[in-house]
Amino acid sequence: MSKTKKLHIGMSLAATWLSGDAWRRQDSNVEGIYSTDYYVDIARRSETAKLDFVFRPDSLFLNPQALDNTPGSASLDPTVLLASIARETSKIGLLSTISTTFYPPYVVARQVQSLNWISNGRAGWNIVTALDGNENFGLPIMPSSQERYDRAAEFTEVVCQLWDSFPNEALKLNRDIGTYSDPSLVQPINHNGTNFSVKGPLNIPNPGHSRIPLFQAGASSVGRNFAASIADAIFASTPDRDAAIELRQDLQKRAEEHGRKPKDIRLLPGLSLYLAESRAEARELFQETHARMDRARKLASIGEMTGLDLNDWPNGRQITERDLPEAPQQVRSRTHSELLRRLIVRDEPTLDSLLMRPEVIGSAHWQIIGTVNDAVEEISEWAAAGAIDGFVAVPGGSVGSMHLVLSEMVPELAEVGLFRKDYSTTTLLGHLSE
Ligand SMILES: Cc1cc2nc3c(=O)[nH]c(=O)nc-3n(C[C@H](O)[C@H](O)[C@H](O)COP(=O)(O)O)c2cc1C
Repeated sequence: MSKTKKLHIGMSLAATWLSGDAWRRQDSNVEGIYSTDYYVDIARRSETAKLDFVFRPDSLFLNPQALDNTPGSASLDPTVLLASIARETSKIGLLSTISTTFYPPYVVARQVQSLNWISNGRAGWNIVTALDGNENFGLPIMPSSQERYDRAAEFTEVVCQLWDSFPNEALKLNRDIGTYSDPSLVQPINHNGTNFSVKGPLNIPNPGHSRIPLFQAGASSVGRNFAASIADAIFASTPDRDAAIELRQDLQKRAEEHGRKPKDIRLLPGLSLYLAESRAEARELFQETHARMDRARKLASIGEMTGLDLNDWPNGRQITERDLPEAPQQVRSRTHSELLRRLIVRDEPTLDSLLMRPEVIGSAHWQIIGTVNDAVEEISEWAAAGAIDGFVAVPGGSVGSMHLVLSEMVPELAEVGLFRKDYSTTTLLGHLSE
């Protein structure tokens, strides 16, 4: 009998369930979002559900205007936060997001390896090239996508070499003869590249229990190539099933071209879940959450991604391929602008329906609005169609919706054989390799 391949599930710790107007609910506990207890509670619930990992996206800039009526993107540093969660959990993976555009590789190698020690092998690194924040790091303009990815590739190579530069075998700890280590095994890396010059070795040993898994987010052609060359998984935006199937097949093909196996790269799309006891309640949750969303901001975002100025368009007018100007040369994220163009070409939406689409309001994530059963059914369909290797849950609407994901939806996926009922390892790589 063939065994159903289990999904890999992560839980985002960005408090998306407080986005829009959801933070105004009485039970939102929005006061807690800069405290550790808030996230430890979610991480423990995620561990009870046997999730592969908790994950924190990140940015290194703040738009004060976006804070006027929502918590915006202000957040704790992900690696520091995950270190505090490490002490309160024992099995779940801890995936931190760190930009290769702004940090020096030596610092990142040290931070992630420190998290790996503190958590006994549960750390992972989500590699991003970042969307904004250049002016916080002395850069007048954001480097181009190509420059960012060139730097990311060299950065990652340096980090991996640094992790290897102080191997666990170098530690001898022989009390009788007083030998602490064999220094000949601790070697400099002497890296001299286009972007970095790093001597090494790293000042923290490799614990030796398991390799640190690498994730990547960004799915332009150059982003896919980068992910296919090194990543264990890609965190992606796939608003529809065909987009996921295309991306997964393409990543697998590219991985083979890099001498890897197709299964070495796992596609884990973001999955936005608005869950409630009935479909009507879930729909209401979604409408309430987005009722006050700033129209001008959404139109500005469409303009940035496509070059389309829709400010004077009536709500009911359809937008078609003919309306699309030449794709702008410089966009914040080619992945997101291509997904939006694709939607317009395929669906020819009216303006008011476009303004409620995940491509405009939800980072272009796959979205399910409905009951736990609806979610389990749709996830099962995507898995059966070969569209996903798992997903990263990005719950929306309310704390209740987020709790339903962890306490009912994930256990139900385990019940139908699509997810583990218990952990069989204690490292992130172990979970991903199951
Ligand atoms: C699903 C997804 C999630 C992302 N998350 C982050 C993030 O948390 N922090 C960040 O700085 N950039 C993030 N990015 C931006 C990417 O790292 C990248 O800079 C951007 O998408 C441009 O690359 P592209 O041209 O391949 O799309 C994300 C991108 C995608 C597609």
